[in-house]
Amino acid sequence: MFKIAGIFALGVSLSACQGQLSEKPPIHPNMNMDQQPRKEAQEVNNFFADGRSMRQPVEGTVARGFAKLDTEYYEGVDENGDFIEEIPVDLTRSFLYRGKERYEIFCTPCHGSTGAGNGIIMEGNYGYVPAPSYHDQRVRDLSDGELYSAIYNGVRTMPSYATQIPVEDRWAIVAYIRALQESQIISEEELQQYDVDISALNSQAAAEQAKADSIAAAREASSEGQEPTIALGQEAITANACGTCHNEDGSAGGIGPTWAGLFGSEGEVITEAGETITVTKDEDYIRESIVQPNAKKPVDYAQGVMASYSYLSDVEIESIILYIKNLEN
Ligand code: HEC
Ligand code: HEC
Repeated sequence: MFKIAGIFALGVSLSACQGQLSEKPPIHPNMNMDQQPRKEAQEVNNFFADGRSMRQPVEGTVARGFAKLDTEYYEGVDENGDFIEEIPVDLTRSFLYRGKERYEIFCTPCHGSTGAGNGIIMEGNYGYVPAPSYHDQRVRDLSDGELYSAIYNGVRTMPSYATQIPVEDRWAIVAYIRALQESQIISEEELQQYDVDISALNSQAAAEQAKADSIAAAREASSEGQEPTIALGQEAITANACGTCHNEDGSAGGIGPTWAGLFGSEGEVITEAGETITVTKDEDYIRESIVQPNAKKPVDYAQGVMASYSYLSDVEIESIILYIKNLEN
């Protein structure tokens, strides 16, 4: 009986009395890994030559799931770094619909629901570089790898969407862009084979056109009675971000040609039909370059990427021409 009481008393006396205040250091007969020798993060460690206690992973270590060796799938380029022609994923109906859904979330604000480049941000005149139409021949001719790269790396002034859109979805969007491109060149006869309501599509297109026309009319009206001036030209150039691609100091290497020495100069251009001709860069030429940039492109910029600024009002265009004409050079 006494023995049992003794063992019990020993147990009580040896168990920790945590939670009670005491000035004395605690008695700790069993260390129980409560205090083990270890290094704090960032603490110096003289055991290693570099003095760090935080060790680096062995060189070449790749975390599980991060070995992205398939460059075609992850980057849209082959082993030589060239863009691949075709989507490296099997296409199914649900994959395409996934692309449509993702496209409508991430891309329509700028590129528009049909890819014509008329998303709501572009209508708002927020000073954004206009998005090109996917139905321009230049964009049709891009490879699937290049379309993928626009999402993965961004392109010129368009930012990358890689952090928002995972790899598989990027390819689904590329597939959907191809479907959009097809949708705009299909003939009415071919369309009749499918189960679509053509008259509904036509009235939707008419409604969109009417909306675009009314936006253009409102712009026109807002500058009515104004005289074109150099100052207005400068304002329009700033508001429409022309300077993203053009400079006025004559330096080469921009996305678009410099404006220095542009007015009145002669230059070789390639027409839409593919002919090379020499033109004088007068007022009409500059107007055409702004409204219909694909009509004539300087030979050095045959791959030109300028999208149409047809939404500018007449006064704005006249003012921009005045501004370019009066550049000192
Ligand atoms: C905030 C507006 C904006 C959004 C959102 C946007 N883009 Fe763009 N995109 C642009 C602009 C502007 C350009 C033209 C860039 C330039 O020429 O500087 C462009 C160009 C492109 C091009 C043409 C590439 C080329 O080589 O000419 C493709 C393809 C493209 N975007 C795809 C997409 C896709 C796919 C999405 C959705 C994941 C998307 N964009 C979302 C603004 C946007
Ligand atoms: C995304 C880049 C980009 C933006 C933004 C841009 N341009 Fe351009 N611009 C070009 C490129 C590239 C060319 C060469 C031809 C082409 O692409 O059509 C060009 C050509 C021109 C030309 C003919 C130049 C020559 O040497 O023959 C004029 C004029 C011009 N742009 C005016 C403008 C104006 C005005 C704005 C703004 C309202 C503007 N550009 C915005 C890229 C751009």
